[in-house]
Amino acid sequence: MEKIKNTNLNIGLNEKAREEISKSLNSYLSNLQVLHAKLHNLHWNVEGQNFFKIHEKLEEFYDTTSEQIDEVAERILSLGYRPLVKLNEYANNSNLKEIESKAYDGLEALEIVLEDFYTLINETRNLIKLAQEHSDESTADMLIGYLKEYEKNSWMIRATLS
Ligand SMILES: [Fe+2]
Repeated sequence: MEKIKNTNLNIGLNEKAREEISKSLNSYLSNLQVLHAKLHNLHWNVEGQNFFKIHEKLEEFYDTTSEQIDEVAERILSLGYRPLVKLNEYANNSNLKEIESKAYDGLEALEIVLEDFYTLINETRNLIKLAQEHSDESTADMLIGYLKEYEKNSWMIRATLS
């Protein structure tokens, strides 16, 4: 991870905290990028009776993910570091599993998304804790919003699957 040079960064967070949070945010960004690709995969490849609803819902999910990707990358820059930008770096730094381009039944697609949302929820919680330990309230605030969204969407997927 590259540090932005020649910055007189005086935002009240020490160097070590900014570095540690930025590093974790880059892993988070990697997860979001892999999720973004997977949501497209499922949006394209979903088949079956529920096609229209699930196809549309997945688009809504990847639009949200896309906004988060931008926000997370800009938060890393605000902390004085550069976001990862290469697809292979995202793949290597993500703990979400990539999936094949093949037909997915609607419910199967939702189960895959739910599992990834759970992974994201856990990761978000850990990052909120880390940010708060360092009094980085802006990062925590951003992530708390995501946490609420992932929890709500997980409930909606569970309700659909039941
Ligand atoms: Fe589309």
